[in-house]
Amino acid sequence: MFALLPALALLATSALAQNSTSSVTEKDIEGLEANFKQAQLVPQLISDFDPEAILSVSFGGQAITVGQKLDKDAVASSPEVTVAPAPGHDLEAGALYTLLMADANAVGTDQNTTEQTRHWLVNGVSLSGSGSSYAVNYTGATTITDYAGPGPFEGTGSHRYVVALYEQGSDFAAPSNLSTAGVPLGTWFLPSYVSEAKLGDLLSANYFQVENGQATSTAEATTSVDSATLAGAASTTAASGSASSGAVSATSGSASGSAATSKTSGAASGASSAAATTGASSGAGKTGVAAGMIVGAVGVVGAIVGAAL
Ligand SMILES: *[C@@H]1O[C@H](CO)[C@@H](O)[C@H](O)[C@H]1NC(C)=O
Ligand SMILES: *[C@@H]1O[C@H](CO)[C@@H](O)[C@H](O)[C@H]1NC(C)=O
Ligand SMILES: *[C@@H]1O[C@H](CO)[C@@H](O)[C@H](O)[C@H]1NC(C)=O
Ligand SMILES: *[C@@H]1O[C@H](CO)[C@@H](O)[C@H](O)[C@H]1NC(C)=O
Repeated sequence: MFALLPALALLATSALAQNSTSSVTEKDIEGLEANFKQAQLVPQLISDFDPEAILSVSFGGQAITVGQKLDKDAVASSPEVTVAPAPGHDLEAGALYTLLMADANAVGTDQNTTEQTRHWLVNGVSLSGSGSSYAVNYTGATTITDYAGPGPFEGTGSHRYVVALYEQGSDFAAPSNLSTAGVPLGTWFLPSYVSEAKLGDLLSANYFQVENGQATSTAEATTSVDSATLAGAASTTAASGSASSGAVSATSGSASGSAATSKTSGAASGASSAAATTGASSGAGKTGVAAGMIVGAVGVVGAIVGAAL
């Protein structure tokens, strides 16, 4: 296990932080997609995630990395949200968006039967900026639900807080009970809201995690996928295919691990899943094998991190 600590340090230092001035690459977008799949937010909460931008979420001037575990005190006040368009995507001047944050609870929660908690809902924001950096502009927007910092119940696992920016086309129609300012934090089914309000594409999303105490039962380990592990994944279809299936297998490894009662066995089962991933991707050529192994290894480290924290 100690041999893995350098890998952990690498994960921490090379994480998916965005420079506000940096331009987004395909690899960044693939890393974001892999992260959301790994965290089971796709397809359970977001059936089809095709980000057109990177959404940077900063608390107190510090940008989160995708899936970062944070202390609840660090996320008590609303974050600054900026957007950097993906290659080939331009942000339309004057377009309106809905910005929201939803608690999707711990990995393994059935999003069809357990409502998400609405922590933030702002209709009619715009984006101000140019080139590769845009900030959310709240002028003229309606804050339906004020930002309410996470406060997960003790022992309910590591909650996933998704910050999302949806296009708000001309069809947009806020449901009557969510059309005026001052609706307090509450629960809803996010996908139902998105379709009922006729929101457009999900421009992008990000997420972070907050946990209160030790998980007692259903919580499952999640970890982020570093886009650096997808190096070269953009160069061939086969490679990016195995990289993402590697991420998914790694996730099911930690998922099946935490279905077992002991956290240690979670790490062990993550390891065997990573081995299976490596085997499965061997047909995809050398790049594919390498990507599968690296992503698989991230899953193992993640399972261990999950077990340790
Ligand atoms: C991000 O910023 C750091 C320092 O501010 C710089 O060294 C680095 O090259 C930047 N990365 C990109 C991708 O622009
Ligand atoms: C949730 O609902 C979707 C769409 O109805 C369905 O495809 C999916 O299988 C459901 N998931 C679970 C875990 O029941
Ligand atoms: C925000 O939007 C308003 C209205 O569209 C505009 O007047 C203002 O300049 C924008 N703010 C920034 C910082 O660009
Ligand atoms: C709004 O109304 C819908 C039914 O149309 C209901 O399912 C939902 O819980 C209500 N939301 C709030 C915040 O009252």
